[in-house]
Amino acid sequence: MPNDTLRAEVQEALDEQYALGRELPRGGMSRVFVATETALRRPVVIKVLAPELAATLSAERFKREITLAARLQHPHIVPLLSAGQAGEHLYYTMPFVDGESLRDRMQRERPMAFEDIARIVQEIAGALAYAHEEGVVHRDIKPENVMFFHGQAVVLDFGIGKALMGATTAETETLRITQAGMSLGTPTYVAPEQAAGDLSLDHRADLYALGVVAYEMLTGHPPFRGRDPVAVLQAHAKQTPEPVGAKRTDTPKVLAELVMTMLAKRPDDRPASGTVVAQALSGPAVHRPSGGGAVVQGLRALPVWLPWGIALVMTALVVWMALR
Ligand SMILES: Nc1ncnc2c1ncn2[C@@H]1O[C@H](COP(=O)(O)OP(=O)(O)O)[C@@H](O)[C@H]1O
Ligand SMILES: [Mg+2]
Repeated sequence: MPNDTLRAEVQEALDEQYALGRELPRGGMSRVFVATETALRRPVVIKVLAPELAATLSAERFKREITLAARLQHPHIVPLLSAGQAGEHLYYTMPFVDGESLRDRMQRERPMAFEDIARIVQEIAGALAYAHEEGVVHRDIKPENVMFFHGQAVVLDFGIGKALMGATTAETETLRITQAGMSLGTPTYVAPEQAAGDLSLDHRADLYALGVVAYEMLTGHPPFRGRDPVAVLQAHAKQTPEPVGAKRTDTPKVLAELVMTMLAKRPDDRPASGTVVAQALSGPAVHRPSGGGAVVQGLRALPVWLPWGIALVMTALVVWMALR
């Protein structure tokens, strides 16, 4: 079987450094193995790019992008440990995260609590804000690329999306997305400009994808889904998503509005940065269900002096009755 050949070739090429162990369930177009790094006796994950994929990209470009990604150091980013070529195969390694993915968690917790959703979005937004400032756009934010490590959300596969974009033509990008769409089910997290093959896409494509992830955590489903990847791409480009608040009516207003803004078709209409997203989620209003929020807002609308006024009238009444 060609698959076993890949494993044997990689093992042979990396023999001194790593002992390949079990393979993780395949997600995208790569193969992922848990391995032991011999010198340090620690578990790592080795991701080997599919030969078809490696064939379409320049090893130089891969190296350039991976070098950028390797510089990232952040509490919510899983770092790269090493990268290279094993025989014919391009690979990179990262720490093995012994935890569940956001995909697993969404399947386990239905519905997820607002506080948890707000915190997870805030943590991912923090990771994005940092990486974007360092000039790295993720391009593949999705629940499979977020894992939980000691309760904190950590983002995997940073900068790999761009590294995989071997040739810089719109056709290649569209092809990549379509291929990914076919192997993953649907291109569920792709921003409109990315769906259109726009090569000038920037960090705001990641904010859109995070909006899709947040929408899915809140409602149990992404805004656009279907079997036909092309139809889903078109929906991202043209269709207005149903408001979060209409699907989960007690969603805190701040959270619902933020998510819908992240899903804006035009990048200019989205929050300007990950920092803006994280800051929007830092106030207490985020945890307040919209029903409760309305009551609180109603109370706030009353004049500040009212309780004092009532107290004064009551005191006067008591004094008057005592004197009578
Ligand atoms: N560093 C890691 N630690 C633990 N599990 C990982 C790690 N990297 C990837 N995985 C898991 O391996 C699987 C395949 O990953 P990947 O090839 O990136 O595809 P995808 O992200 O599309 O699922 C995923 O289920 C992911 O959760
Ligand atoms: Mg991944």
